[in-house]
Amino acid sequence: MKIILASDHAGLELRQALRAVLQEKSLAYDDVGPTSPESVDYPDFAKKVARAVAAGEYTFGVLVCGTGIGMSIAANKYRGIRAALCGTEFEARMAREHNDANILCLGQRVIGAGVAKGILETFLTTAFAGGKHAKRVQLIAEAESER
Ligand code: RB5
Repeated sequence: MKIILASDHAGLELRQALRAVLQEKSLAYDDVGPTSPESVDYPDFAKKVARAVAAGEYTFGVLVCGTGIGMSIAANKYRGIRAALCGTEFEARMAREHNDANILCLGQRVIGAGVAKGILETFLTTAFAGGKHAKRVQLIAEAESER
């Protein structure tokens, strides 16, 4: 498993806290920034992560902004990306089991670091259930060709 993570300025601290979780678990990851707290545009960072995940370079992506909303909207514009904004471990489990989500989006201004760590762990350790859900994910993929 290889993970890529990024944030904007409003997600910087939570991203750093999540990086510590990945280090503790000895999981391979790349952090593509930003490195300073200066204001940046979240779509630029969503693009980096979404393109890399869609290209198969990483198993999962993690994107953090103030709410997680902008990151999820931006990431889901890329073909093959299923980005899920999660605020609970239940949502993270469902995002993996039912939606085969490949990017986790989190809001630093919405949830605390403790909750976010639990969400990340659940997201990374839950498998896609397949079966009837595979057909639905395929239907999402078909919708991409309508663009
Ligand atoms: C930045 O102020 C904020 O708009 C951004 O982090 C995010 O919450 C957007 O959805």
